[in-house]
Amino acid sequence: MTLSRYSLIAAATLTTALLASTSSQADVDKAIEYRQDALSVMAWQIGPLGDMAQGKIDYDAEEFARRAENLDAVADLPWEGFVEGSLRGDNHGVDTDALAEIADDWEDFESRQQALVEEAAKLAELAQGDDFAAMRQQVASVADTCKGCHDNYRAE
Ligand code: HEC
Repeated sequence: MTLSRYSLIAAATLTTALLASTSSQADVDKAIEYRQDALSVMAWQIGPLGDMAQGKIDYDAEEFARRAENLDAVADLPWEGFVEGSLRGDNHGVDTDALAEIADDWEDFESRQQALVEEAAKLAELAQGDDFAAMRQQVASVADTCKGCHDNYRAE
């Protein structure tokens, strides 16, 4: 009687332990997919901004302001998806271009996130005005923060 109660408890504990590790593996996979999706949202929003800045499409003040606001709103979203164990070479089930260096240079990686957040906020603010030359320059500043981080921490 006592023995079987103990083994039940032991079995229950074991099950819990297994479930915990299974679900954290799934959480890592979900986090990677989440951040990739959030990064795609940012790319979708900045696309037409870049096209307008480069004169590939006509400048439309309303669309520019709307997309700049969207970008500002999502600029700090991807980063919570960079959870422990989710980089290249970690043992998870999703293809990722996030290099292992991110873990070694975490402070720099965070300061690059912050740079994007700040530059995107500036762009959204400028987009409320009518200085298109300044807006164009600011689109380039935002894009530089994307590129700078990709050059260092994203696989080719
Ligand atoms: C702080 C670093 C950093 C900044 C800033 C950054 N990225 Fe990235 N980006 C990454 C990393 C790392 C990956 C690889 C993510 C992965 O595969 O898990 C990535 C991947 C992407 C992807 C591919 C997503 C997918 O579906 O696999 C897109 C698109 C992208 N970034 C767009 C942007 C744009 C646009 C900006 C600027 C507005 C930007 N990123 C700013 C680090 C950054």
